[in-house]
Amino acid sequence: MLYSIRAEQTEDICAIKEVNDLAFGREDESSLIEAIRSSEHFVPQLSLVAETSAGEVVGHILFSKIGIETEGGFVTSLALAPMAVKPDYQQRGIGSDLVREGLGRCAEAGYGSVIVLGHPQFYPKFGFIPASEKKLQGPFDVQDQYFMVCETQIGSLSGVEGMVRYPEAFFNV
Ligand SMILES: CC(C)(COP(=O)(O)OP(=O)(O)OC[C@H]1O[C@@H](n2cnc3c(N)ncnc32)[C@H](O)[C@@H]1OP(=O)(O)O)[C@@H](O)C(=O)NCCC(=O)NCCS
Repeated sequence: MLYSIRAEQTEDICAIKEVNDLAFGREDESSLIEAIRSSEHFVPQLSLVAETSAGEVVGHILFSKIGIETEGGFVTSLALAPMAVKPDYQQRGIGSDLVREGLGRCAEAGYGSVIVLGHPQFYPKFGFIPASEKKLQGPFDVQDQYFMVCETQIGSLSGVEGMVRYPEAFFNV
């Protein structure tokens, strides 16, 4: 199946909601996306869709701005969340392509790192490691292996350690 990955456009907003609602079986994640989209944390070129050659949006990934609170002040990073592929299109590599393409675009846009709370079997193949290895703590009560970071620009986290701060909207999911 042919598909391409591109930044979201205004006309994709309903389709993005549908992808997320179907993939998660609830509306919490699409509400999170809407909250981020209307906030200062949104980076329009880092909300990506996978679109088939027939024009159907079948996947979505969002990277949005978060901060790492260090002794020297806040360092900007990105949160990868959420990510979704329509159930009928899962297990074909679309989710992996969205992550790979997304990480490349994050680096091109000048962001040095991406942080994710996610599956420890899925994300390490894209370069994610436990955030604890970089001396980063998160606000979530999970085992270390679920809270991960990827340096999109090598060395960007050298000397950066502290607490990752998420916008309030993340705690409603
Ligand atoms: C996670 C998800 C986006 C993957 O999309 P996909 O197009 O099926 O991904 P790919 O085909 O590239 O890869 C499938 C992999 O996803 C893994 N996977 C399935 N559910 C997953 C989940 N909830 N979180 C992380 N990985 C998951 C599979 O184990 C498989 O791993 P493998 O390649 O080692 O076998 C898709 O399964 C989905 O939308 N799930 C529901 C929403 C969700 O849980 N999103 C992630 C949390 S934000």
